[in-house]
Amino acid sequence: MNEDVSDGWAASAVAWIVEQGEDGDYGRRFVLDAPMRARIEGRGFRNALDVGCGEGRFCRIMQRAGIRTTGLDPTEALLARARELDPTGNYRLGRAETMELSAEFDLVVSYLSLIDVPDLGAAIARMVAALRPGGTLLIANLTSFSTAGQPDGWTRDGEGIPRFSIDHYMEERAIWVSWRGIRIQNWHRPLGTYMTLLLDHGLQLRLFVEPEPAGGDPERNAVHRRVPYFHIMEWQKPA
Ligand SMILES: C[S@@+](CC[C@H](N)C(=O)[O-])C[C@H]1O[C@@H](n2cnc3c(N)ncnc32)[C@H](O)[C@@H]1O
Repeated sequence: MNEDVSDGWAASAVAWIVEQGEDGDYGRRFVLDAPMRARIEGRGFRNALDVGCGEGRFCRIMQRAGIRTTGLDPTEALLARARELDPTGNYRLGRAETMELSAEFDLVVSYLSLIDVPDLGAAIARMVAALRPGGTLLIANLTSFSTAGQPDGWTRDGEGIPRFSIDHYMEERAIWVSWRGIRIQNWHRPLGTYMTLLLDHGLQLRLFVEPEPAGGDPERNAVHRRVPYFHIMEWQKPA
């Protein structure tokens, strides 16, 4: 597929599966998973949708927490891996912007997938439509400061000290990023773009956190503390 129309996911699927392994990559393992699990476990959720589920790692986590989970993703090779690892799971091929699901879920999750979605407005509208009244939308995303620095945010200053620079923050744009055989398109959008779309659907913000790393390697964690990559938001659809 021509790069102009591809987002890189099909060609990157094998490297992505290797990168995630059993436990997820560094950021998932040591920064995001613990606070994301804390939002789904023991809260009585019964029926979840994971939008942009990739190879299904967080779907399996939700299933193990006793939540019946549907995973949705447009990348066939990632869904094939999800089905291989979870043969009884429910995985569907599709895009967030065009998925047709009724208001049947009490939990909709986007775990680092909104940055991959070209039409954010359409995706959020479909995610809200898939929630039953009173349901919860749980989002882990790259911070907009971090995406505003892609693809070359970290450089060295005149004294050789690593600095992270951001630019054109207000300008929504697609950016190609590459690491360890993965080459994909991400979207930078100002935080206000996300917040306004979510608020315009009448959702109520219940949680906003910038999680700190826990465990892992002190040097890598120091980088995560200097320039946090992630935030987590939880929104509730009015009953
Ligand atoms: C960074 S990965 C995250 C995968 C998984 N949620 C995880 O945390 O490991 C982003 C995922 O979004 C998917 N994706 C890309 N475009 C999408 C779209 N328009 N709608 C839904 N998912 C999309 C990709 O196929 C990929 O699996």
